[in-house]
Amino acid sequence: MTDVIAIYPGSFDPLTNGHVDIIRRGSRLFDRIIIAVLINIEKAPLFTVPERVDIAREAFRGWDNVEVDTFDGLLVDYARRKKASVIVRGLRAISDFEFEMQMALMNRRLNGDVETVFMMPAEPYTYVSSRLVKEVVALGGSVHGLVPDSVEERLRQKKLARETLRA
Ligand code: PNS
Repeated sequence: MTDVIAIYPGSFDPLTNGHVDIIRRGSRLFDRIIIAVLINIEKAPLFTVPERVDIAREAFRGWDNVEVDTFDGLLVDYARRKKASVIVRGLRAISDFEFEMQMALMNRRLNGDVETVFMMPAEPYTYVSSRLVKEVVALGGSVHGLVPDSVEERLRQKKLARETLRA
């Protein structure tokens, strides 16, 4: 039997505890899971790609079957290069479903050998998104418990740096 390799793709700007929860679940299900950070030159992210990779590596240091990588271009081409047969995506609420279904079916059309597997995060994370986390921190709120401690600290530093620049 060959190893089942899964890709968990995303922007991860930044990694939240919802992502961490899905990766943990995926690591139990698949032989290897690769966290694949999208290199997207069109978006203006808060964290650079190397920062996002560092965050994920820190969060999963010592996890033998969890890797962190970057990709650009089509996800299914990346999956093929990595010999992955599964794409993992988290589904929080019905509102996620429409876009996720479109992506899953488009990816299936592009490469029928790769199956998308949807996983639900633990209940406390069903409303957590990277976008909301950034907004709350920018407006002075706490995201303690919703992101790894290292992300909380990095968000604080980014906010301080921005405030210093503006002063
Ligand atoms: O965390 P995100 O931003 O919801 O992740 C979106 C992601 C990275 C999964 C998606 O944008 C993607 O797969 N991009 C790669 C380009 C691609 O393959 N597009 C066609 C997918 S239907």
